[in-house]
Formats: sequence, structure tokens, C-alpha cells
Amino acid sequence: MAIKSVGVIGCGLMGGGIAQVSSQAGFPTIVIEANQELLDRGLAAIKKNLDGLVAKARLDQKARDEALSRLTGSTRLEELKACDVVVEAITENQPLKNETFARLDAICPPGALLATNTSSCNVTAMAAATRRPGQVLGLHFFNPVPLMKLVEVVQTILTTEATVKTAWEWVQALGKTPVRTKDSTAFIVNRLLVPYLLDAVRLYESGLASREDIDTAMKLGCGHPMGPLTLLDLVGLDTAMYVAEVMFEEFREPRYAPPPLLKRMVIAGRLGRKSGRGFFDYSGGTA
Ligand code: CAA
Ligand code: NAD
Repeated sequence: MAIKSVGVIGCGLMGGGIAQVSSQAGFPTIVIEANQELLDRGLAAIKKNLDGLVAKARLDQKARDEALSRLTGSTRLEELKACDVVVEAITENQPLKNETFARLDAICPPGALLATNTSSCNVTAMAAATRRPGQVLGLHFFNPVPLMKLVEVVQTILTTEATVKTAWEWVQALGKTPVRTKDSTAFIVNRLLVPYLLDAVRLYESGLASREDIDTAMKLGCGHPMGPLTLLDLVGLDTAMYVAEVMFEEFREPRYAPPPLLKRMVIAGRLGRKSGRGFFDYSGGTA
């Protein structure tokens, strides 16, 4: 089966990016949000991103217009009834994701693939909430989606090879590079990345160095494109905390436990770039 039409649930940081690259790659794409205000905000962010590419001559006006003409939005999950693949990119919350998969199963055509962009939740549990567990898998994109080339293709013990093949080819059609991983919490990248990010928070919390020096050290000392605290601000501190909680719950290893400062910053609403302030202040547009 080849993918012809695409659905995305959630038009936040990740869902917006996935919807953007999907429509840019030529797929009619519909994105679902929880309410009209969030949908308008998400679609406006996609439009702004495409306009930015046109302004920098990275995209011509015609391609921008065509991408936007292929993109629609709705607040009704039922609008996904004709999609060949749906990528769920809602808040990192297992019960919410399981419930969404059960609803999707009732709405989508029998042949459709149901994918999750989860960073750490149990994909097998989402599959088990449907009557098509062989057609459920993880498609883990990276932030910012338009720039990051990788997608982890996550196979549960129930996912069929045919599902993996179809998804793999669609990921390639988006211009991304797929890698295959099993459904084990946090897959490849986050299994390695999250303990590093949490250690950076612990280092800062211990008073060893300033946040600027921690970030400069890892950028210039290790050649990373951004320091760990800037990267946490990009990922979203709430998402990073949920991911750490799931990893700690799964493996019971202290290195996965969210540090006290991270929890308090989330409670305080300092979620990173998306709320205007995290470890750094973005109220002026840049850090
Ligand atoms: N969306 C779209 N474009 C963006 C962007 C964004 N969020 N941020 C930056 N850009 C664009 C800029 O406009 C700029 O474009 P031009 O070259 O056309 O001017 C270009 O990217 C380079 O930007 P900058 O010079 O400002 O910054 P940079 O050179 O540091 O590159 C970056 C930006 C690609 C994001 C780079 O810093 C990077 O790779 N950072 C690490 C990102 C990363 O590790 N992501 C994974 C997070 S973990 C995850 O996603 C998994 C999970 O489950 C949590
Ligand atoms: P986000 O908070 O930016 O966006 C989530 C969006 O989902 C919000 O706009 C919210 O309104 C919407 N939403 C919540 N419940 C919904 C529902 N029932 N129906 C429709 N929309 C709903 O979060 P994000 O960073 O985009 O993360 C989304 C998913 O992607 C999570 O599972 C996260 O773990 C994963 N992920 C995040 C990153 C990252 O760096 N932030 C990277 C890879 C994967």
C-alpha cells in the first residue's frame, strides 16, 4: 500500500512540523487540534515558517502556495476518516494516547496505518487499544521537524513487516532518513540524549557553572550545535519532564529521574521557547 493522504493530530511544536513537511512533500494533509484557537495558532506557525523559507529564497512562492493548499485543519477527529496514515503528536500522556488510538481505530479506514510520534510512551499499549495492532507503529520525528533528517521507525512485537515497509517508504518520501528500532521506552536517541540533558540540569542546580558556561562548554568542547540547556528550551521542559518520568517509571534508574529544578520550572510555567522563558528568556524573540 502507498500513502496518498495524511492526518496529523496535534498542531504544536511537532505536529505542526510534521504537517508542514508532509504537505511540502506533496501529500494532502489534515491536522487536528483540541480547539479552534490552538488550531489557528498552529496553522499560523506553519504559514510563518513557509513564509520565512520564501523570504530566504529556500522555497519559491508557488511551492509555498501549493503546500498551503494541500493543508487543512479541523477540531474534529472524524475528519481523518479518509487518511491512509495518521501521525499522533499530542501531549506526552499514555492514557490520552491510548484513548486517541481507540477513537482513531473506529474512524479510520481498515487499511490505514496509525502512528505515534511519542518520545517515550508505550507504543504496544496504543496498538492494544485498537483492533488493528499490526498496523500501529511509532514514527518518531525530531525537533525542529523541518530541519532534522531522522525518523525512528518503531516496531512493536505486533507491528507487521508490511506496515514497517509502507511507513519506511513514506518517511523517505518526506525527505527524511529512517532508522529501525524496537518499542522499548525512549528508543535510540532519547535513551542516550535524555540522561545527558538531565545531568546538565543537575550540574546547573549544583552550582558548578553558569547556564551560559554549561552550554558554551558543550558547544565548543564537543561540537554540539546547541548546549543542553538551550536544547531543553527547544524540546519544551514539560515534554522533557514527562519523558524522564516515563523512563524512570520503566527502568527505575536514578539517572532517568527528573531533577527537582526541572519539575519546579514546569510547575512555574517556564516551559522553554514555547512559553517565552525556560533556562533562557525568549521574550524578545531570541535567547
Ligand atoms: N524551525 C525552523 N527553522 C529553524 C528553527 C526552527 N525551530 N530553528 C532554526 N531554524 C533555521 C534558521 O532560521 C536558520 O535558517 P537559515 O540558515 O535559512 O537562516 C537555520 O535553521 C539555522 O539556524 P541558526 O543559525 O539560528 O541556528 P543553528 O545553526 O544552531 O541551527 C538547529 C538550528 C538546526 C536547530 C541546530 O541548532 C540543531 O541541530 N540543534 C539541535 C537540535 C536537536 O538536537 N534536536 C533534537 C531534539 S530531541 C528530539 O527532538 C526528540 C524528543 O523526543 C524530545
Ligand atoms: P506541544 O505541547 O507543543 O503540542 C501538543 C499539541 O497537542 C498541543 O497543541 C495540544 O493542544 C494538542 N493536543 C493535546 N491533546 C489533543 C487532542 N486530544 N486532540 C488534538 N490535539 C491535542 O508538544 P510537542 O512538543 O509537539 O509534543 C507532541 C508529541 O511529540 C509528544 O508525544 C512528544 O513526546 C513528542 N515529541 C516531542 C519532541 C520535542 O522536542 N518537543 C520531539 C519528538 C517527539
